Amino acid sequence: MGAGETHVKSELRRSMSYSKLRSMDLTSWVILPILLGCFGIYSLFKVLQKLRNSAYVQDAVVVITGATSGLGKECVKVFYKAGAQLVLCGRNEEILKDLITELNQMRKGSIQTHKPHMVIFDLADIEAVTSAAKEILQLAGKVDILINNAGISYRGTILNTKISVDRMIMDTNYFGPVALTKALLPSMITNKRGHIVTISSVQGKISIPFRSALMDKSTAEGRTPEEVANIVLRAVGERSKEVLIAGIVPTVAVYLRALAPKIFFSLMAARARKERKIKDS
Ligand SMILES: NC(=O)c1ccc[n+]([C@@H]2O[C@H](COP(=O)([O-])OP(=O)(O)OC[C@H]3O[C@@H](n4cnc5c(N)ncnc54)[C@H](OP(=O)(O)O)[C@@H]3O)[C@@H](O)[C@H]2O)c1
Repeated sequence: MGAGETHVKSELRRSMSYSKLRSMDLTSWVILPILLGCFGIYSLFKVLQKLRNSAYVQDAVVVITGATSGLGKECVKVFYKAGAQLVLCGRNEEILKDLITELNQMRKGSIQTHKPHMVIFDLADIEAVTSAAKEILQLAGKVDILINNAGISYRGTILNTKISVDRMIMDTNYFGPVALTKALLPSMITNKRGHIVTISSVQGKISIPFRSALMDKSTAEGRTPEEVANIVLRAVGERSKEVLIAGIVPTVAVYLRALAPKIFFSLMAARARKERKIKDS
């Protein structure tokens, strides 16, 4: 190997390590600070968003229907911890009293909590709903957030479901919440503040074979009521217009129903045939 060749090789090595250094410089002096800056801005944005969300719920008067069990009960706990002034609605006074005792015994964080009220009424009884709305306004003075959560579930075929069952479901799940919302809406308009949350099922969006009237508990897909209650709290804070809490299959089904209805209906027909076979065997 000649001296000239060695010199060329060492020059080459030097220029390669120089370009490596240059690219490292570029990473450490340009890209890294940009990434750190973006992360910083994002974190700051998230902290501000969290503060804004919790300020929105703190001290707000929140009415929760169906507070005696399941999701409603968990919503009561998360909104209570978030500092809301709660009005718990349900049919069973004893359960609501026990829940209030449970809330009073809960470990309080730094957020100031409020003594909850309770109002007992049956959502399927429109007159009772109207007087309950008056009682809510007398007790709390106003309503900032109404969570229409109460509902009944039913599973059955169209042929085997009596119209009285459809009527009962519509009275509880539709007309009751509509009547309550209508009765509370004027005070929200007067106060220039009001937020209405409606909890429904995926089956409010798509129909599934052999569930003629409403939902089925198995559609919860492993989400605990506590997890869903925290999602509801976040959605309220963020003023989300719609939140779909479902597993991958129902989520795809909802989008398929909107974007490719033909495929959706042929899949549902196949599912209906399969379920019919299982039922008949
Ligand atoms: N669990 C699920 O898989 C699922 C899935 C999708 C959507 N959802 C929706 O989430 C909401 C809560 O479901 P959940 O599973 O927590 O139900 P849940 O445990 O059965 O609780 C339903 C609540 O509604 C109340 N309620 C029923 N009928 C009423 C009436 N006529 N008047 C007043 N209150 C009445 C019940 O009160 P009582 O104690 O007096 O009966 C209870 O507090 C429902 O709207 C449901 O459609 C649930």
